[in-house]
Amino acid sequence: MYETLYIVKTNPFQIGQQPWLDYLFLRKNPVKMWLMRHGYFNSFNGVAAFASARNAERREQEKGERRPSIVELEAINEKKKHGIDFLTRFRQAQIDHPEFMTDFQVLAASTSLVNAGSDTTAVSLSAVFYYLLKNPAVYTKLMAELDNAAATDPASLFSKTTPDGEGLVSWAASQKLPYLDAVITEAFRLYPAVGLILERHVPPQGAVICGERIPGGTIVGCNAWVLHRRPEVFGKDVDVYRPERWLEADPTKLKEMRATMFQFGAGARTCIGRNISTLEIYKLIPTFLRTFEVSYFWAVCFLHCCVYVGELAC
Ligand code: HEM
Repeated sequence: MYETLYIVKTNPFQIGQQPWLDYLFLRKNPVKMWLMRHGYFNSFNGVAAFASARNAERREQEKGERRPSIVELEAINEKKKHGIDFLTRFRQAQIDHPEFMTDFQVLAASTSLVNAGSDTTAVSLSAVFYYLLKNPAVYTKLMAELDNAAATDPASLFSKTTPDGEGLVSWAASQKLPYLDAVITEAFRLYPAVGLILERHVPPQGAVICGERIPGGTIVGCNAWVLHRRPEVFGKDVDVYRPERWLEADPTKLKEMRATMFQFGAGARTCIGRNISTLEIYKLIPTFLRTFEVSYFWAVCFLHCCVYVGELAC
């Protein structure tokens, strides 16, 4: 699965920078498309196969049973203290909107969530750790903020506390840690997980963008990697990892900086998983750092071991 994700993710990112590659080798290759249309070639990738297998499992489990409505499910799960997963909701939508939510749509929705939600969060988390380890002064300052919060009021920092006062950092507490926020936002700025231009089609009547008349049908877009390095917005030291810039900026500047951040895209097609990921990242980073001491040397050794073991396993 991880190998498939690696391949599935690497290709679009290369195409994102060189779209013509898509016509030559990948999905839009006319020969490949013809073969697919005529059933000579199966484009089903591993992620879709995984989603399809989970869907089949669920169908098997539900065989002969009446599917409970979402309201009934919410009541059952409230008692069990866990939520309703995406697949259940998609399959439920098939009952409510059978004309739209076909089996193919369920598969497409499940596949796109695995594609869109896995690597993006992992890359963003890795970026935070990378910049922390490369900037020991930042790491020390962040630990001081966390240790201070833990010493002052452990009950409000941790959602679950053990007798020694440790545990999982709650979402509410993570929101009261300004340096943590600056550390994460600065990592998002320098290493946005999606390095694509996030294409949009200009409507048939055309549009004026930044004073330029753009004809209808043109594909336009912008890339977070470019936007996030605008010196006029973020300062002359735009290439430097410096979380302090988020704490020093005056309110007007801060508003402009936040509005320029594009790691989750923007507008009508903005990332629908941003709240889930933000929650994961803001809880995981402080909890992990309070539990483990990390160093660049050991992180690199660990990574090399993982790659080595992965290669042996393949
Ligand atoms: C740090 C983690 C994440 C990053 C950086 C990220 C980034 C993005 C970006 C840049 C887009 C394109 C937005 C646009 O075109 O304006 C997007 C779309 C999307 N994301 Fe995320 N994403 C993350 C996590 C997730 C998660 C966890 C899920 C699902 C559980 C998810 C589901 C989606 C979906 C379904 C879309 C397509 C929305 C649409 O086209 O209407 N993402 N994401």
